[in-house]
Amino acid sequence: MRVAHSPTEMRQNLASLRRQKTIAFVPTMGNLHDGHMKLIAKARELAEVVVASIYVNPLQFGSGEDFDAYPRTFEEDARRCQASGVDFIFHPECLYARGGPKVTLCVDVALAGRLCGRKRPGHFNGVVTVVNLMFNVVQPDFALFGEKDWQQLLIIRRMVRDLHMPVTIVGVPTQREPDGLAMSSRNRYLTDDERIRAAGLSKALQAVRQAYHDGENDASALLEHGRAVLTEFGIEPEYLEICDEQTLEPLSRLSQDKRPRIFVAARIGKARLIDNMSLCTMEAIGT
Ligand code: PAF
Repeated sequence: MRVAHSPTEMRQNLASLRRQKTIAFVPTMGNLHDGHMKLIAKARELAEVVVASIYVNPLQFGSGEDFDAYPRTFEEDARRCQASGVDFIFHPECLYARGGPKVTLCVDVALAGRLCGRKRPGHFNGVVTVVNLMFNVVQPDFALFGEKDWQQLLIIRRMVRDLHMPVTIVGVPTQREPDGLAMSSRNRYLTDDERIRAAGLSKALQAVRQAYHDGENDASALLEHGRAVLTEFGIEPEYLEICDEQTLEPLSRLSQDKRPRIFVAARIGKARLIDNMSLCTMEAIGT
């Protein structure tokens, strides 16, 4: 496994390989957990060369967010990458010109202004700008993203479609802790008590899903089931919404053809956590 510290070094490492081999790319901000490992395992299945990036992208953090506090654990991350068969880590010190980039990508408000975008203006512009930049450097055949960040996954798929980028985007199901909590680097901000309460997020989503499967189709009534669970766990959601999973438009009456998905975000202590779940499947998720 090799580590490239700049875009030029990364490009040079891949230049001859890319003519003979397929490349799968796993972009991350580091502090790798089993969810990332699942992305890497899938990448290994899909391509001959696996590249993972580790870069905490300042462009996607707003003022007052956790850019400085974001866990930076490169040594441990590199060990995990090596053990799971990553061929290259792209770990740039800095990606942008001094003073920040003067040219960035912009996501339409119809996608970026909903759900997380309402509280994090500019966040998705920062994400697509760095992902586009990294795609230009790595030029992967496949790029893998977790479904936990569903809105991000949808926006990246749309970027690739709208800009005719020659890369296949692969979404990988959310990896969960035994009690159902979606794995996230931000879970490490939780105290023991907050960690117990955080399980309420996925339990609320499951309650909504169960009520839908029991025959309730009205979104307000369904959301009541979720809110009741959140209250039980002492969680005040930033949002709890049922949306069409392809357009992110909020739904008021549900039907299978609308592809309903439930989304939640909440601040628990210092951590802002998100989760989502399709209402059309019923797989068991945790105790
Ligand atoms: O999902 C993440 O960790 C980040 O948003 C990403 C895709 C690595 C871009 O910085």
